[in-house]
Amino acid sequence: MLRKFVYNGFVLLFVACMSIAPLYAEDEKELEKRAELVSKLLVSCRAIIAEHQDLFNDPEKGDKGFTGDLYVSQLKKHFKDATGVEVSEDDANSADQTEKILGTLLVSSKTVIEESQQVLNKKGRGFKKIIPAIVGRRTGYKYNKALGAGYNLKQTSIQFRNPANHPDAFEIENLKEFEKNGYPKGKGKGTVVTNIDGSKTYRYMLPLYITSACLKCHGGPKGERDISKKIKEGYKEGEIRGAISLKFPYPPENLAKAE
Ligand code: HEC
Repeated sequence: MLRKFVYNGFVLLFVACMSIAPLYAEDEKELEKRAELVSKLLVSCRAIIAEHQDLFNDPEKGDKGFTGDLYVSQLKKHFKDATGVEVSEDDANSADQTEKILGTLLVSSKTVIEESQQVLNKKGRGFKKIIPAIVGRRTGYKYNKALGAGYNLKQTSIQFRNPANHPDAFEIENLKEFEKNGYPKGKGKGTVVTNIDGSKTYRYMLPLYITSACLKCHGGPKGERDISKKIKEGYKEGEIRGAISLKFPYPPENLAKAE
């Protein structure tokens, strides 16, 4: 009798798990797509800022003409070329959660450039701290604030320059995995983690590599100062520099609402 009861219990549990499992698998696939797009939009932000570095750093030139609107139009194009996805500022109000997150990131980054106009257009000053890492960090602050609890976007590294970007234990573990020989280059990694209080968070990291453009600040000779007066780390081209790191609420919000 007892045996049959236990057996039935297991069967029920098994059936219950099987019906939940595909749902969770679906969630994770959806979240991975979402996280990849959000990371790639930040990659596009970084790329557009990098493309204009000489213009921004020109001490002879006053008005740079690099308005928030110009930045957004270039950003949208760069992102569409990279992913095939169109994003607009209106998306920040979309009912679709992925569109809403992407739109919020776009608007956040635009605001950073709008708030930087005065410093950007200042004559007689070279380096103005308008570089990919700093625009990315400031964009992340605005995005985190706009989306609220459960959402986080940052850039991090084991050899972090700014303590605000320091990695947590989970990020260190993933960064070390990215550094391993054989880890597929450029591949992001998504994981559902259980927090101490039993709640869950979806975490995603996209590795960032040293390219020739990074060397003037992060390359050699190790210990020398770069244009931002920070110490060069002595990285070589192709090495892992760090990662974009994201947190999303789990289960995803759109699902939580439907329940
Ligand atoms: C003009 C100098 C400069 C260049 C070029 C540069 N960086 Fe940085 N990088 C910095 C500074 C300064 C910081 C600290 C930013 C902050 O205050 O958040 C930083 C921070 C970072 C961080 C965040 C972790 C940390 O150290 O705080 C990452 C990741 C990063 N850079 C990657 C790159 C990559 C990849 C490239 C090339 C594609 C690159 N950087 C090019 C100056 C530079």
